[in-house]
Amino acid sequence: MFYANITGWGKCLPPARLTNHDISQVVDTSDDWITTRTGIRERRISHVSTDMLASTAAMNALDCAGLDAKDIDLVLLATCSPSTLVANTASQVQQTIGAKNAAACDVNAACSGFLYALQNATAQIRTGMIKRAVVIGAERMTWYVNWQRRDSAVLFGDGAGAVVLEASDEPSGLLATKTGCDSEDRDILHIRNFGTNVDKYNAPVGPSDILFEGREVFKRAVNGMTGACDDVLAQAQLKLEDINVLIPHQANLRIIQAIQSKLKLPDDAVMVNIENYGNTSAATIPIALCEALEQGLIKPKANIMSAAFGAGLTWAASYIKWGSRVTPIIQPSHQLTPSDKSGLELITNASKHCI
Ligand code: COA
Repeated sequence: MFYANITGWGKCLPPARLTNHDISQVVDTSDDWITTRTGIRERRISHVSTDMLASTAAMNALDCAGLDAKDIDLVLLATCSPSTLVANTASQVQQTIGAKNAAACDVNAACSGFLYALQNATAQIRTGMIKRAVVIGAERMTWYVNWQRRDSAVLFGDGAGAVVLEASDEPSGLLATKTGCDSEDRDILHIRNFGTNVDKYNAPVGPSDILFEGREVFKRAVNGMTGACDDVLAQAQLKLEDINVLIPHQANLRIIQAIQSKLKLPDDAVMVNIENYGNTSAATIPIALCEALEQGLIKPKANIMSAAFGAGLTWAASYIKWGSRVTPIIQPSHQLTPSDKSGLELITNASKHCI
């Protein structure tokens, strides 16, 4: 039996920033409300589609692992904002990064998607079906945003993160995991006007929109993620004090703080970067993982817990044993094509089209 060591990690954040003050130019909100209720100060707005964000993060992760894309057997892309549904977006990523020997597949479990995909790729490596995989979380969530709805417009952002998994004898990588779905509550968080359930034959289709019952989602996110963490700790026969770093999904700073307090973890054991990026759905965890490594939060052999919650309502928690290397073999250098537009300029036209 092999392990699936994480040997590469990379991210891609589009350059255009949209601050809380910028959003308050478009819709009735304020920096004070957004910061106090969510912890978000700014988010990134992408000028390119999801596959470019994903490919850039994946190329950085491959360099970090010192691997050639041709050595990859599987590209798994967690996203709920695909560039294209048919053909799948992972196939575009496979082509862009040159992973011509890899299978390519999209995974949609919304904000839990990266942990679902990580579990899937790890299982394939551990059973010997494949040797190397790239697992990506990439989203262009702001494509769905109705800029005239202040409740959702302030929460989301764009970005991507990726990891490279390699078969290894060293007990490392994802060692315990729990995923689940409370489908009875699937309506409390959804995107409307998107998909074949839209009755386009009998009514005009309105703009897409992210709808949610904020307080319900909040409560279920805290309970779902802490419950899943407890389950994973029991599987791994670990105690909370054995966990060195928690990498939670970044949906709301108050959700993260509630989980931190339930799990009784100190501040320096919890990775938080929501203030800079907002909720990038499936991309929050791989981006936060990269930044935890950049900041020296993850040491060799660290015990990492990660937890996510999203539409479905899906949830997931994962225990990751880090390997020996915490620095890239080749420093990340891949970037998006530049854009001369600010975040506000990028969303201004979109906000006019929303009703
Ligand atoms: N700016 C200013 N006021 C706003 C606002 C905004 N952007 N959005 C909502 N408000 C107002 C509401 O209209 C409401 O006004 P009222 O009291 O006059 O009716 C008031 O602020 C409180 O709204 P409420 O929804 O009760 O706030 P909250 O404290 O529950 O925080 C969320 C709202 C959305 C930040 C929080 O519930 C949350 O993060 N939930 C989870 C979000 C989610 O689904 N994420 C995606 C999946 S992981």
